[in-house]
Formats: sequence, structure tokens, C-alpha cells
Amino acid sequence: MSPAAAIADRFAVDGRLVSLEPKPGGHINDSWLGVWDGPHGRRRCLLQHINRFVFRRPEEVMANMVRLTRHVSAHLTRESAPEPERRVLRLVPSRDGGTHHRESDGEVWRLLDWIEGTRSTERATTSAEARAAAGAFGRFLRQLADLPGPPLHETIPGFHDTPKRLRALERAVAADAVGRVAGAGPEIEAALDRRALSRALADRASRGELVRRPTHNDAKIANVLFDTSTGEPLCVVDLDTVMPGIALHDFGDMVRSMVADAAEDEPDPSRITLRVPVFEALARGFIEAMGADLSPLERSLLPTGACVITFEQAARFLTDHLEGDRYYPVTHPDHNLERTRTQLRLLQLLEDHDAELRRITESL
Ligand SMILES: Nc1ncnc2c1ncn2[C@@H]1O[C@H](COP(=O)(O)OP(=O)(O)O)[C@@H](O)[C@H]1O
Ligand SMILES: [Mg+2]
Repeated sequence: MSPAAAIADRFAVDGRLVSLEPKPGGHINDSWLGVWDGPHGRRRCLLQHINRFVFRRPEEVMANMVRLTRHVSAHLTRESAPEPERRVLRLVPSRDGGTHHRESDGEVWRLLDWIEGTRSTERATTSAEARAAAGAFGRFLRQLADLPGPPLHETIPGFHDTPKRLRALERAVAADAVGRVAGAGPEIEAALDRRALSRALADRASRGELVRRPTHNDAKIANVLFDTSTGEPLCVVDLDTVMPGIALHDFGDMVRSMVADAAEDEPDPSRITLRVPVFEALARGFIEAMGADLSPLERSLLPTGACVITFEQAARFLTDHLEGDRYYPVTHPDHNLERTRTQLRLLQLLEDHDAELRRITESL
């Protein structure tokens, strides 16, 4: 039995494990898709090992996940949503009744029911798809807005602390630890020229003008499961970074990741374009789904959210480049610099279209 199969066996699945295949493509956690033959036929589950380099306190990741999936389930029941079990991730308990399995080496594993008949996509190819994804995230945020009890754990401390991200960049420039500052002059200048953006949301949040609530923090279309036959967005996945945040961060991440229709590491920044109809679709889907949970101030700051998150991501890629590629996996030496350029190019386009984007959000 492989080590992963031995761990899969620690979970309370009724039946015999017939296959367990590594699921390629995961950037953060390692995943395996398992198939069990049981009394009610075939059952598929996703076995996941939580990355402890990224999530220093995996038990807190699990505690959040249990609370929030239960809360979303309760919402679905109240709303009499059809097929509620396909609309929220469900944890399979371990054989000793826990929510996860902890190996003797301290590593944390979990098992999730696979949601059958769904697909996900890496790119929003149409505005309709973008609107549907924004609706899924908006609904998710609304469902979590009334989560009772203490705030969720911060699974990655300071994740969207944009001023902190800026300071990290300034430190990396000053330290020049791997001698890359000289070769990144224009990118450093472009990023530092926009340093004021780091405070555009942070100051309002610290003054209490923007409400802190559970947010997803990885709001890209690949984390939405769509029904294969109807195309309906069913379920939001990848819940490890759900923690207290502000709604505009998730909206900004959606724009950042969907509006350009190019890979994050597109080597030719001139190929990056801003698809205004996709921006409009994202704003429409998000506003519709959030309803009154999105304040007039938040609504007016939607384009700002896109700029802030794009700036933040540019700063993170550039910091990693200057520190010698310690966080983001790279395939060549300038990989993180290329990623920085795509973010800076997108930021420039967002700034160029600012008046138009504001007109759109005000008109919806
Ligand atoms: N419970 C599930 N049911 C069906 N598909 C899933 C499920 N969980 C994840 N997926 C699919 O696997 C992909 C990767 O899973 P995810 O949890 O997002 O891990 P990561 O992005 O860290 O690799 C998702 O984009 C989705 O396509
Ligand atoms: Mg994912």
C-alpha cells in the first residue's frame, strides 16, 4: 500500500479503495483522487495534504473549514437549494470521528467528497462565465456574512495587508540579496510609483469604513465548480485561505485573474488586453449576488479593489524575484519578473480605463 493509500484508509469511507491517483496541477496542496467500491456503488473522494510551508497552522485551516462549510450548508437548507450536497464542500470524517487525520509527523490530511458532474476552467472565456463565477463568489461571501462566533483564524497572517507587501518589496530592493535590482529598474520604479495604492483600501478598512468579513482570498475561476450539463456555477472550492478580509479584495482578485485573458506569466506584456465586457460581467455578477451586503462605498470602490490587488500581486512577484524565487515556483530565472510585468501592464490598463470602469459600476 502506498503511503497516500495508507492515509486514505484512515478515513471513514464505507468500501474498498480501488484506486488512488495523484491529481496534478495543484499549486499549494498535494491531492489524490481516490475511488472506493462500496455498498452503494462507486464513490470518489479527494485526499489532500495541507502544505505546512504555506499554512503554518493546518489545524486552524481545518477548524475554519469545518465552521464555514457547516454554515454554508445551513444556508442551503434554509434556502431549500436543490441538490445542496453539490453546492458546498463536504469533509469525510476520519475513522476516529475527527474532521481530519494528523500523522505522527504532524502532517495534516483531509478527505473531501468529490462533487460529481462538475467541471472547472482555468480561464474565463466568455463574459457569461465571468458573471457566473462572480455570482458564485458573491453568494459565498453573502452566505458567510452572518457566520456567528469569533472571527475565523487568519490562516496566512497579513495575506492582503498591502502596506506590508509594499514594505517587503522596499526591503527586498534595499537588500538586493541576489543582485537582481539592477536588472529590474523599470519594474521597481513602476511599482514604487504606485505606492499610494497600498493604502487605498487599508486605511478605509482600519478606520472601519469597510466591513471585515469572511472572504475567500483565492477568487479565481478555477476555484468554481460548474455543473457539466447546465453550466450553473455550483460550488466554491479551495477554502484554505477563507479568513477575515474585505469583499473588495475578492472582487479585485477576480478582475486581476479574469479580465486579461492571458496567462499570469505571459512573457509578452503587450499581449495583455483589458476586456471591458468581462469587467462589467464580473461587477454585475458580484453586485447581484451580494445584494445589500455590498455597501454603496464598497460598490463605488470596485475598480479601486482591482487596482489594489493587481498592485499587490505585482509587488509580491517582484519581491520574490528580488529575493531569489523563494515562494513562487519558476522555470527560468526571469519568470517572476515576467509575472511582475504582466501585473504592471494590467494595472496600467486598469488606470487608463478608470473613468470607464467607474461609469460601469455606477450604472449597474
Ligand atoms: N470536491 C471536489 N469535487 C470536484 N472537483 C473538485 C473538488 N475539489 C477540487 N476539485 C477540482 O480540483 C481542482 C483543484 O482543487 P483545489 O482544491 O482548488 O486545489 P489547488 O488549487 O490548491 O490545487 C479544482 O479547480 C477543481 O477543478
Ligand atoms: Mg484551486
